[in-house]
Amino acid sequence: MKKICTVVGARPQFIKLAMVSRVLRKTFREVLIHTGQHYDHNMSDVFFEEMEIPKPDYNLGVSGGTHGEMTGRMIAGIEAVLLKEKPDMLLVFGDTNSTMAAALAAVKLHIPVCHVEAGGRIGTLDNPEEVNRIVTDHVASLRFVCTPSGMEFLVNEGIADASYLVGDPMYDAFRYYTERLDGTELRDLLDFSGAPLALPERLYYMTCHRQENTDTDEKLDQIFQAMEALDAPAVYPVHPRNHERAERLCREKGYRNILLSQPVGYQCSISLVNRAEKVVTDSGGLQREAFFAGKPCVTVFNRVAWPETMVNHCNQLAEPDKADILQKLGADVSFDPDYQPFGDGHSAEKIVEKIEEFFG
Ligand code: UD1
Ligand code: UDP
Repeated sequence: MKKICTVVGARPQFIKLAMVSRVLRKTFREVLIHTGQHYDHNMSDVFFEEMEIPKPDYNLGVSGGTHGEMTGRMIAGIEAVLLKEKPDMLLVFGDTNSTMAAALAAVKLHIPVCHVEAGGRIGTLDNPEEVNRIVTDHVASLRFVCTPSGMEFLVNEGIADASYLVGDPMYDAFRYYTERLDGTELRDLLDFSGAPLALPERLYYMTCHRQENTDTDEKLDQIFQAMEALDAPAVYPVHPRNHERAERLCREKGYRNILLSQPVGYQCSISLVNRAEKVVTDSGGLQREAFFAGKPCVTVFNRVAWPETMVNHCNQLAEPDKADILQKLGADVSFDPDYQPFGDGHSAEKIVEKIEEFFG
């Protein structure tokens, strides 16, 4: 049996891993490496538990620091495991520092790299994830692409060979778990003191964690002012990156319409998407989930990350600016139920089939 080392480290990767690993383990031996990039219980363990992901074989305990420092420590740690395990392939997901570190460690050891969620581009190297995506795609031997626009980017960069349009594992997960929601997942909603948060009948769902939006009070506060002006509360599970800032701003400004929560598990998060009137986010994953659920989304970011979601105002970009966000939230939106550019909910099977073909 061929051996595949899979490297994950951040929240969205655990979700993709859950879907792919389940299929992969039927025909391959998977050795799982967690870099440690996300480490709080509700940023990591909760996903392994609720999505029944096997416990990692290694946890490198690397988190925090500058991008270069974090990436460098990860490369060294992953390289040591790869030298010991001697896998036939390395599998990575998405665009985090864990993704790029693993890809670089493997390619230097002549281990073929397989990249799931290849081909995303926003067109600026100022975005740390764009750097991770480009480097990983260009050293990969197999690229799995979620949407047609991703394939176009790879064609333009001359790396369309060994690139396959398979659909989005996030869509696989959304379909699979939405069917299983029964309301108990909402117990994950806890305020910062650990007390349960009562869910309002009507709500907006908000997340915000991008470096670009959370590095200063001003931008986050503009987003908060927009949410404060809405006709129903905004539920906001806060990423630990900006816990302190979010809590302080809400307290100082006396905001009443923003319900801050600790980070929640995956099923709670998609339950909130399904219950929300609209979504406001800067998350790559959440803007797709809003689209999957047929919920209007405003993405507070200056670049299009998922072009397929931008039709008929389903997903609109906004500046971190109260007036702009409110204007976009007021737009007319229409969803076409026959337009589903993210695959058929079975991307994992397609990915594993192509990996099998790779080995002949
Ligand atoms: C990372 C990814 C981003 C992804 C996000 C998903 C990169 C460059 N960015 O950003 O693409 O959207 O994950 O959530 O890899 N922290 C904790 N506890 C945790 C995790 C983080 O306290 O469990 C704090 C640490 O202080 C850390 C900071 O959050 O320094 C930022 O974490 P980091 O992993 O560097 O970046 P993310 O913002 O999570
Ligand atoms: N999510 C979650 N708990 C939260 C907030 C988000 O499970 O408290 C889910 C969300 O539904 C989506 C994924 O995390 O499935 C998106 O991850 P994130 O926003 O951290 O990263 P990105 O997608 O921007 O890389």
